[in-house]
Amino acid sequence: MGHRSWVLAFIATFLLQGFSLAWSADREALRPRVPVDQLETVRAIVNPLPATGEMIDKGKTLFNGKAFCRACHGQDGKGLGADIDPKTIKGALPRNFTDKAWQKARTDGELIWILKNGSPGTDMAPFIPLVLTEEEAWQVLLYVRSFGQP
Ligand code: HEC
Repeated sequence: MGHRSWVLAFIATFLLQGFSLAWSADREALRPRVPVDQLETVRAIVNPLPATGEMIDKGKTLFNGKAFCRACHGQDGKGLGADIDPKTIKGALPRNFTDKAWQKARTDGELIWILKNGSPGTDMAPFIPLVLTEEEAWQVLLYVRSFGQP
């Protein structure tokens, strides 16, 4: 192989590695967090509250206020709050709520399951019932869903 083809092979390897890293990060975000044996039941649960402007506003107030979701998920929902240094988070980074593929992959039931159980092994803790009532959690989730809208 000539010098040129070595350089090309080198570049191609780098590009492929970059793509597969990005791909596996996306795949990891989409992997279900709910245990397989509960998944079917949990997925069937729907948000009982209507997605009215008033409800979404209530969710927004909780998100930025007493539920402090904003500290980790950011005011823009993109996944790293300005108040958090990424180096202080061990393991998974906070979810990016503007990720359309992730929004599509999750049902409301899976989201409320996370707020009840947290995501074991990560910095995502349970919020119901200590911080949020179930009704407040549904309001926050309406706001979380609004990040997936155009
Ligand atoms: C201390 C930081 C922190 C706070 C505060 C926090 N989160 Fe998270 N959150 C995370 C991390 C880290 C993940 C990624 C967990 C994983 O990959 O399993 C996550 C993931 C999630 C997910 C995605 C789970 C899934 O199924 O993919 C949802 C939904 C969520 N958080 C909602 C919230 C809401 C709502 C609040 C406020 C009530 C909140 N989080 C507060 C760190 C945080």
